[in-house]
Amino acid sequence: MCGVMGYAGPEQAAPILLDGLRKLEYRGYDSAGMAVLNDGSIEVKKCRGRLQLLSNLTHDGQDMPGHIGIGHTRWATHGEPSDENSHPHLSNSGRFAIVHNGIIENYQALKDKLISRGYTFHSETDTEVIANMIEYYDQGDLVQTLIKVLHRLEGSYALGVLSVAEPDHFVAVRKDSPLIVGRGEGENFIASDIPAVLNRTRDVYLMGDNEIAVVAADGVRFFNMDAEEVEKDIYHVEWDVSAAEKGGYEHFMMKEIMEQPKALRDTIKPRIKNGRFVLDDLKFDADWLNSLGRIYIVGCGSAYHAGRIGKDLIEKMLSIPVEVDIASEFRYRNPLLGPDQLVIIISQSGETADTLAALREAKKHGARTLGIVNVVGSSIAREADYVLYTWAGPEIAVATTKAYTCQIAALEILTAYLGQETGRLSDDQLQRLQADLLSLPVLLKDQLERPEDVQYLASQFFNCKDIFFIGRALDYSLTLEGSLKLKEISYIHSEASAAGELKHGTISLIQKGTLVIALVTQPRLREKMISNIREVKARGAVVLAVALEDDSAIADTADYVIRIPHVSPDLEPIAGIIPLQLFAYYVAALNGNDVDKPRNLAKSVTVE
Ligand code: AGP
Ligand code: GLU
Repeated sequence: MCGVMGYAGPEQAAPILLDGLRKLEYRGYDSAGMAVLNDGSIEVKKCRGRLQLLSNLTHDGQDMPGHIGIGHTRWATHGEPSDENSHPHLSNSGRFAIVHNGIIENYQALKDKLISRGYTFHSETDTEVIANMIEYYDQGDLVQTLIKVLHRLEGSYALGVLSVAEPDHFVAVRKDSPLIVGRGEGENFIASDIPAVLNRTRDVYLMGDNEIAVVAADGVRFFNMDAEEVEKDIYHVEWDVSAAEKGGYEHFMMKEIMEQPKALRDTIKPRIKNGRFVLDDLKFDADWLNSLGRIYIVGCGSAYHAGRIGKDLIEKMLSIPVEVDIASEFRYRNPLLGPDQLVIIISQSGETADTLAALREAKKHGARTLGIVNVVGSSIAREADYVLYTWAGPEIAVATTKAYTCQIAALEILTAYLGQETGRLSDDQLQRLQADLLSLPVLLKDQLERPEDVQYLASQFFNCKDIFFIGRALDYSLTLEGSLKLKEISYIHSEASAAGELKHGTISLIQKGTLVIALVTQPRLREKMISNIREVKARGAVVLAVALEDDSAIADTADYVIRIPHVSPDLEPIAGIIPLQLFAYYVAALNGNDVDKPRNLAKSVTVE
């Protein structure tokens, strides 16, 4: 999910690869490596950790002779960050080297097949499968071979491939992972993003899905999946490096908000195969599963908010009692833990000290633990009995957005899977859930293409002193997240209240002109919410409702309305949080705040 880089030209490749990879560091990574073709063989250097280590290992690349090579920064998805799992990966004979960004969803089946044909594997990655498949299907022509392999791959990839038999060029292709080709003077490049090549060329080709590039020093040729040569237009880059690193967005937070359709698709799609929910890494034994007495969900901040939604889903769909806890409270309240219980630990970073302590407490009392984690190989991922990864990709902004929505999606998938394995959900219910989950990324993409309404409303309210959020049930959990997001980055005082609870105290703070954001996305609770909106309006509040797109009557009660798509009620929390993320972002940006690094906050809180 992070960076690929490739070079073919007259200069020594390795220092140029290192330089390009440095420009891709902003994408986040945990390991790095390079492969260079020289004198009929491929040399690979790679290691876990920062690029500086790779640079030290190779004396700034000087130790690796050769004019053609591929480089990689890895953000682990399959197998922990380690020297062995770092890219590039060689095929068994060492004739092919490959770098890969993305996820191969069907890698296990392909790996099993290759093992039965005598191939051995040196890493836990999905990527190594591709290197060996290229060798297995090798017919002497790398483009033809690659096409055969691509037909068998499911998932996302940006690939760079070196072959000993074709020493004048390397081959690259992408599908759903970014890749560009840079055209220089007597030298050519591939990279995940334009900044990596900008100090050598401003002429690039933007690669489309399944277009294959053959990159040599003296030129680049493009082929389609029928191995026919195709022409591509050059794009001349006019803008500067700092704009490009954020994909043209002013802040990482906005980039990450916009990445949510892809992050959700990567998290959801590999878990649904042939009409079933498939979670290969969760090997629960049937007896334990059927005797599961209670579930705890534990996390901090936004992860806790996602957990609250998980509780509602599991209790409603599976009728298993669930308790949700803030991690820092969990271990000091003596929860009644035992072997017939599952403790779900939610964490983007996998390193949050309070959450890790809660995991250890649960294990000490014999409960089984399952981590919903974004960072592969993190402490929580390593220590939990089971892991369900959110494949949101690296999240750089301190305020979480894409990792949070992927946590909710992971909880939906887990609920469905438990329902499937215990027979608590019918085939009809499971089919409906699958259809809803698979259609979600597309609906969100449409929603994210129209942020102007939220931007306008933010411009009306960015200098408020206090903002209140109200909602019921799932919407109440959303208000907690919306309010946290707003206060984290805008520094505006904000409170979230269960809409029915407001009248028991907090309503005394409502006065003429106070902004109240009301979440009205649950049809069964709509009338109750209308009453609560009337209560605050009677005290002078200005009400901004977040409501379903077909709820036209809400405009009769609320002063302003933000519309969200009509997805199934269980998935509404994912669609409903998008405008709240955007609202927080625009309010903070209009206040001139450092959106990505808000004061007093850290991305990963590793102290108690
Ligand atoms: C969210 O925007 C916050 N920065 C914070 O609440 C965060 O969710 C919390 O610290 C938990 O972090 P984790 O998911 O990495 O464990
Ligand atoms: N899935 C691959 C791995 O885990 C590639 C990860 C990446 O995109 O960096 O090695």
